[in-house]
Amino acid sequence: MRKVTLIMDRDYTVGPIDPRLYGSFIEHLGRAVYGGLYEPDHPLADEEGFRKDVLELVRRLGVTLVRYPGGNFVSGFRWEDSVGPVEQRPKRLDLAWFTTETNRVGLHEFAHWARKAGSSVMYAVNLGTRGPDAARNAVEYANHTGGSYWSDLRRRNGHDAPYGVRLWCLGNEMDGPWQMGHKTAEEYGRLANETAKLMKWTDPAVKTILCGSSSLNMPTFGAWETTALDIAWENVDYVSMHQYHGNSDDYLENFLAKGVETEAFIRSVAAALDYVQGKRHSKKRVDISFDEWNVWYHSHGAPFEKWSEAPHILEDVYNFADALVVGTMMNAILRHADRVKIACLAQLVNVIAPIMTENGGRAWKQTIFYPFFFASNYGRGVSLQVVSETSKYDTKWYSDVPDVDLSAVLDEATGRLTVFAVNRDLKEAIDLQLALPGFGPLTGAKWTALEHSDPYAVNTAEREAVRPVEKQPVSPDNGAVAARLSPMSWNMLVFEKKG
Ligand code: AHR
Repeated sequence: MRKVTLIMDRDYTVGPIDPRLYGSFIEHLGRAVYGGLYEPDHPLADEEGFRKDVLELVRRLGVTLVRYPGGNFVSGFRWEDSVGPVEQRPKRLDLAWFTTETNRVGLHEFAHWARKAGSSVMYAVNLGTRGPDAARNAVEYANHTGGSYWSDLRRRNGHDAPYGVRLWCLGNEMDGPWQMGHKTAEEYGRLANETAKLMKWTDPAVKTILCGSSSLNMPTFGAWETTALDIAWENVDYVSMHQYHGNSDDYLENFLAKGVETEAFIRSVAAALDYVQGKRHSKKRVDISFDEWNVWYHSHGAPFEKWSEAPHILEDVYNFADALVVGTMMNAILRHADRVKIACLAQLVNVIAPIMTENGGRAWKQTIFYPFFFASNYGRGVSLQVVSETSKYDTKWYSDVPDVDLSAVLDEATGRLTVFAVNRDLKEAIDLQLALPGFGPLTGAKWTALEHSDPYAVNTAEREAVRPVEKQPVSPDNGAVAARLSPMSWNMLVFEKKG
């Protein structure tokens, strides 16, 4: 039997896990909002038109913050269209997705929904077709107490208290030619800097997120980060990363290895941050906001009616293999909890999402729901350095891919240790052994796994083919095997302090 040995010491930590690593994303795109979180005619709609079944699933996921309202959509968005009496809000053509936006849900409605979901709002401003003036007005509208034009308008629109939105994205994917108002790094750096400056003058409590590269594969990657960061350094708090893994050839060993690119991407952005900080002789810290991450490939090219309202677009139906890749991406984020402080699984409902709905009907959990759900519910505390001895494999794109991908979290208050492990091997089980100097005796308290013989198995409204199974936990004493990880499996092992 092959084995992997995981060596950890409770004093060798990566850093605290920011609860905002369990964020997500809602864009005005397809049925994310209309038919997803909002559907006033649905039998389960609450008094504000929000679907209670969706809210319940979001709460269970433990989503701590939600990025909103885009995405590509935000680069043509006028936030003022989305406030005030609903019947007076304009319908607009959205040039990001070639659909029609009704603005029935806007800033107020979304903030109310987020509160019900137990999440905070991370709001993106338009730096594609707009600029500093619209952005600083949005901050004034959302966050100023009153006694000014925009804050008083908020109060007249029914919300006396400021919303207190803290996190603000300075546009979206401005490095991409597909973006409305695409810019060079120099143009964007200047615009972002001036915009962030006015936003912080309006409300010094706001934190701003500079757009990094929209993927590791962008030709401008690296130069984009260092150029824009160097210009805007003093006025930004985070730089973003976006990454979606596709599966172009159904070559499973290669697909399951894709988490290594997540790791490489995080390391490179951290290096760019260190470089700019050093170049500027700065003591200021800028962290990473990994504010779009997921698997995305099933829905590419799916037809829909141009300029329609809330069509079925980007509705990926995820399979079991996708859930394993999501598990490895989550592991990579946890292993870098010292640099990544915000992360948003993109997206949340219907659009490349862990939650799917039928208009007027059921809501259900996609396969990718589970790795996020367990990380979010159990992965709180400090991330531990994981040193592992594991066999490796090569694919046509990657070399030295660990057969078992790992992360570990310690809850220092209770001494509870949680290990997340993905066995990428398609055919063989691998034994997990733990070497834990300095932990004292531990009891195996829980072992939850996602296993399936068919990597292409999917969940539907009728049948949850991929769901967690509870296995018999074992204490990891004396180098004993803590778990036999099934081929192609995601696992969570929870150990409690003995006695
Ligand atoms: O999440 C879907 C899209 O992916 C977003 O609108 C954009 O930011 C990214 O390219």
